[in-house]
Amino acid sequence: MIEIAPSMLSADFGCLDRDVEMINSSEADWMHLDVMDGVFVPNISYGFPVIKAIARKARKPLDAHLMIVDPQNYVNQVRDCGVTLMTVHQEACTHLHRVVQQIKDAGMKAGVALNPATPTMMLDDILPALDLVLVMSVNPGFGGQKFIDLALPKVRRLRSLIDFQGLSTRIEVDGGVNLHTGKILAEAGADILVAGSFVFGADSPADTIAALRQL
Ligand code: DX5
Ligand code: ZN
Repeated sequence: MIEIAPSMLSADFGCLDRDVEMINSSEADWMHLDVMDGVFVPNISYGFPVIKAIARKARKPLDAHLMIVDPQNYVNQVRDCGVTLMTVHQEACTHLHRVVQQIKDAGMKAGVALNPATPTMMLDDILPALDLVLVMSVNPGFGGQKFIDLALPKVRRLRSLIDFQGLSTRIEVDGGVNLHTGKILAEAGADILVAGSFVFGADSPADTIAALRQL
């Protein structure tokens, strides 16, 4: 069954408790937290104080997506916020293997994200060490963007590599997910779908999460 990670980027930050509680009582599997630094991506979102505020109320595991340069400098701070899964960008890490080890040594699961223009081949050698690959289906930085089809062959290739090697690495997809793109992604072999604007923009976010989970 596909898992759903609603992105808190599209939540109402003036009513954060209410939106966290909505996710808590929904069928969501994760809470996806997007951290942007205005350097790696052309936007700034939120940082540790907000993540801590969410973590205090969250009853779903936290899935932190670091869209920042030098993520290796923040591993312990992310762990101290109570994050279960920390994902860094391949494009932001010169020494990716070392960063992945740091994340695991800190007691978290390690994920690596790929921008739409980065081939999956970049992760071939390190794949057995990863708990998760995050395939970006938009250029990171903003919610509400249009799904980029390049993600589909990437998910298919990762699925066959993971299955062929008998790995437990999960495939998560982030950006432009709705019932239509979500169905195609589920068929292509995705394990986890991130959805921001589609969930929070819906009349009933909880029903929308449930519908995505049925794909
Ligand atoms: C984009 C973020 C996403 C974003 C997705 O850079 O990584 O997690 O919140 O938003 P939607 O689902 O609206 O495309
Ligand atoms: Zn994200």
